[in-house]
Amino acid sequence: MKKIIITGGAGFIGSHVVRRFVKNYPEYSIINLDKLTYAGNLANLRDIENAANYRFVKGDIVDMAFINQLFADEKPDAVIHLAAESHVDRSITNPSEFVMTNVVGTVNLLNAARDTWKSNYTDKRFYHVSTDEVYGTLGGDGMFTEETAYDPHSPYSASKASSDHFVRAYYDTYGLNTVISNCSNNYGSFHFPEKLIPLAIHNIKQKKAVPVYGKGENIRDWLWVEDHARAIDLIFHKAATGTTYNIGGHNEWKNIDLINALCTIMDKKLGRRDGESAQLITFVTDRAGHDLRYAIDATKLQKELGWVPSITFEEGLEKTVDWYLANEEWLTDVTSGHYQQYYTEQYNHR
Ligand code: NAD
Ligand code: DAU
Repeated sequence: MKKIIITGGAGFIGSHVVRRFVKNYPEYSIINLDKLTYAGNLANLRDIENAANYRFVKGDIVDMAFINQLFADEKPDAVIHLAAESHVDRSITNPSEFVMTNVVGTVNLLNAARDTWKSNYTDKRFYHVSTDEVYGTLGGDGMFTEETAYDPHSPYSASKASSDHFVRAYYDTYGLNTVISNCSNNYGSFHFPEKLIPLAIHNIKQKKAVPVYGKGENIRDWLWVEDHARAIDLIFHKAATGTTYNIGGHNEWKNIDLINALCTIMDKKLGRRDGESAQLITFVTDRAGHDLRYAIDATKLQKELGWVPSITFEEGLEKTVDWYLANEEWLTDVTSGHYQQYYTEQYNHR
């Protein structure tokens, strides 16, 4: 039986990856390793928590002794590494936390994998899940390919770029069987409402101001989270060692157009008159160092592994709104406590 440690499995994307692997591969043993920070929530995995091939382990990837012991005890065959501090705004307020988890935590996992597998790397795999933000920002045209030079601007993207470099260094230096993917913006169920789409849905529902940074002209390339999980599955099983794949939706939206589209969907779903929700849009001070545009060229993934997104943005956005409206309890849970304090500090201090 193949044993896989999935880090960050209680977070947004991680929970979709864990669910997919637990359901699709009953012959694998899946260990979800997560610290349960504000962003990690075991309620994201209720439907599979009792599965025979699933286990949760609470732990911090920054804790080297703990990670070494876990690898010595479990002797995993593979790691799919998603645990990270993931929110750009928080990285501006507290960069050091991003260095610890994203850089030091990743190096701890790499060392433990190298030491556990040193007798034979052949059937082992260290899959590092990364972001398109490592490539920096684009102007009006062009797209990020796997060859684009790294040029991160935020403390978050600098920490992810650094972790990518370490993963490549372990492939080059020790021959560790590594794979990296760099994905564009995800959206879908279980997305923590500090990020644009779930925050906007939450605020529109509550008739609260919807904060749009600057003039809303920044562009992001949105991908449905379950399509990202499917790409990770494919890359994990099929990619050659030492390779990198970009993952993206070919789906660029200016923030303000996206928020207007969401407002239109929400007006219909909530029985409001046309244009009512859009009145909540409030332009606020721009994010420091705000990247203008991201766009992913996912041709390599399409040509080599046959992956394409499975649903349109219109379908995905509607499914997402429906999920948030049907899962009020989840939203109430994750926005109680610390969220209120974060929200006040983030938006009232602008
Ligand atoms: P998230 O913030 O929703 O979840 C992160 C998870 O990691 C949480 O469950 C948290 O508890 C856990 N975690 C944080 N610090 C930890 C630590 N020190 N030890 C153990 N667990 C810890 O993040 P996400 O949006 O699901 O992103 C997952 C990964 O995908 C990240 O590596 C991120 O950089 C990458 N990524 C995200 C996106 C996106 O649009 N969200 C796009 C591309 C890549
Ligand atoms: O591109 C992949 C990245 O996408 C991931 O690596 C990150 O983990 C993930 O958080 C996401 O980063 P962004 O900064 O692009 O996502 P966010 O949802 O924070 O913001 C999306 C855009 O919306 C961005 O241009 C900033 C803007 N924004 C965001 C918030 C939270 C607003 O205008 N208002 C807001 O309140």
